[in-house]
Amino acid sequence: MSQPELDALKAENERLQAENAQLLEQLLAAQKLGSVGELASSITHEFNNILTTVINYAKLGLRHRTDEMRDKSFNKILAAGQRASKITTGMLSYARSRGDRREPMQLKQLVNDVLVLVEKDLQKHRISLDLKFNGDPYAEVNASQIQQVLLNLIINARQAMGEGGSLAISVTEKQDESSAELAVRDTGSGIPPETLPHIFDKFYSTKSADENGQGGTGLGLAMCKDVIESHNGRIRVETAIGHGTQFTIKLPLVAKPSFIRTDETQAPAQRAG
Ligand SMILES: Nc1ncnc2c1ncn2[C@@H]1O[C@H](COP(=O)(O)OP(=O)(O)OP(=O)(O)O)[C@@H](O)[C@H]1O
Ligand SMILES: [Mg+2]
Repeated sequence: MSQPELDALKAENERLQAENAQLLEQLLAAQKLGSVGELASSITHEFNNILTTVINYAKLGLRHRTDEMRDKSFNKILAAGQRASKITTGMLSYARSRGDRREPMQLKQLVNDVLVLVEKDLQKHRISLDLKFNGDPYAEVNASQIQQVLLNLIINARQAMGEGGSLAISVTEKQDESSAELAVRDTGSGIPPETLPHIFDKFYSTKSADENGQGGTGLGLAMCKDVIESHNGRIRVETAIGHGTQFTIKLPLVAKPSFIRTDETQAPAQRAG
């Protein structure tokens, strides 16, 4: 092959890579809106409950003018406000963040941040949560992308279970193979053998429109796979019809950054003050 031909191929290759990166970014953005929509109704509901708490304790505090009652009311109102702030902070950081900046992240923290967004939805569908942390792994990741992956897996799991079931999420540090493992397991329908080969394909979905007219776009798992592979990780699935499904993600382990203290990070309300 001549030099000009080689140069042309190289240029074409670079163009395709750039186009690929751009498509992944668009896929992430479109898919993210879908999962925000999925959670919107249960989060709005939770805000309503929080406001009811705030209003009732404000009334109580005004009616009973003893120090004890006022302290109790203010504490309840403060706790409700902090919970609301935690949810909005989580939602905003999830919806806003873009780009591909990666840094060493504590995977426990990532999981906890996602759970704030889905807790209500799980309760609403009577799904119990079993959370296990084995070790305290860190991985070099784009936090928002990994949260999007987790959110997708959790929403899929929830949808596979319908009403009632149990969701197990675990984070495991595997020093021997230098990897961090995240697993999301449900007790749902399982995936039939004829469906299984297609689940990671873009626009493959078995879900028809629900009562809100929202069917599956079939982008969830395609996005998960793209994100995990771009992090040099692996995603795999094990499933049994009628028993449930487990998705397992492996990411390369990194050392905990030396500037990180071991105590819990502060609640958003305290940070803002
Ligand atoms: N936990 C699970 N249990 C059973 N089936 C699953 C599970 N996760 C995924 N699937 C199957 O894989 C298909 C593809 O999943 P994917 O997340 O890519 O798309 P979707 O959930 O249908 O749509 P979207 O995520 O865009 O709303 C689903 O339609 C479903 O058939
Ligand atoms: Mg999905």
